[in-house]
Amino acid sequence: MLLENKVAIVTGGAKGMGRGIALKFAEEGCDVVVNALHIEGAEKVAEEIRALGRRSLAVKADISNSAEVQNMVDETIKKFGKIDILVNNAGGVMGVQGGNIDTATEEDWDKILNVNLKGAFLVCKAVIPHMKKNKYGKIINLSSMGAVNPSVSVLHYHAAKAGVLGLTLNLAFELAPQYISVNAIVPGPIETPFWDALQPPGPERDAFFTAMTKKEIPLGRMGTPEDIAGPALFLASGLSDYVTGQIIYVAGGQPLSSHAATFLSSGERPGG
Ligand SMILES: NC(=O)c1ccc[n+]([C@@H]2O[C@H](COP(=O)([O-])OP(=O)(O)OC[C@H]3O[C@@H](n4cnc5c(N)ncnc54)[C@H](O)[C@@H]3O)[C@@H](O)[C@H]2O)c1
Repeated sequence: MLLENKVAIVTGGAKGMGRGIALKFAEEGCDVVVNALHIEGAEKVAEEIRALGRRSLAVKADISNSAEVQNMVDETIKKFGKIDILVNNAGGVMGVQGGNIDTATEEDWDKILNVNLKGAFLVCKAVIPHMKKNKYGKIINLSSMGAVNPSVSVLHYHAAKAGVLGLTLNLAFELAPQYISVNAIVPGPIETPFWDALQPPGPERDAFFTAMTKKEIPLGRMGTPEDIAGPALFLASGLSDYVTGQIIYVAGGQPLSSHAATFLSSGERPGG
């Protein structure tokens, strides 16, 4: 098993990729703290982890609230005595439907940046002292392909997820002397409840996914939480001990430099 005797915190672990990562880690021998905004969802996943024979703790905490984050870390240390792995997974568009420079409001900017960027910072700030103590740690941050190759405008969300890459690279540089590695996963389109805020599940959404993946994803399908859990396991385990400050694109082959395609498909050429 790749994570025997390790302890991980997975933020936003009640559903989607967070749940997939938490269960994959547990299958590999890891004890997992499942964080969520609502305790019921976290408790359900914690039960699934216990059924796999591992220890688990469900903690309700809003990652954008430093007191709640500190409480989550204190509870983790009280129960498990250490933190080896942190997955900064919680995030999303917070119910905001797109946004460009004309339509993005200051309120939406704050809401989205608070969770996706400040939240990851706050959790790092509370967890890293415990990793430093043990001179060991693996931090995995979830960004988004939209941060590096937007195909629709979601200005605040993409800026926040680009910020997550800056946080990753700076922390990797800063923490390498303490044997703490920090890497980022950049997911392409992954089928999770993330999309529910944008479009309810059903035939229309399925048709949208089919059309989008046909056009943008060489592997020709949406990703799954398991597609993300595998690379997360690599970055959390000893398999990646010589890997830090890296950005891993898990996006079905979606190219990074297809800006030409992005701009062409935007269809907006004011003034020709
Ligand atoms: N699904 C995609 O296509 C996709 C693509 C690129 C990046 N991402 C990113 O990957 C990560 C996981 O996404 P997902 O698709 O599993 O989404 P999801 O909506 O299924 O799960 C995200 C989880 O984060 C939790 N969360 C949100 N705000 C929180 C807060 N303030 N405190 C604690 N928990 C909070 C939610 O309750 C939810 O359980 C997110 O950071 C998301 O932005 C998703």
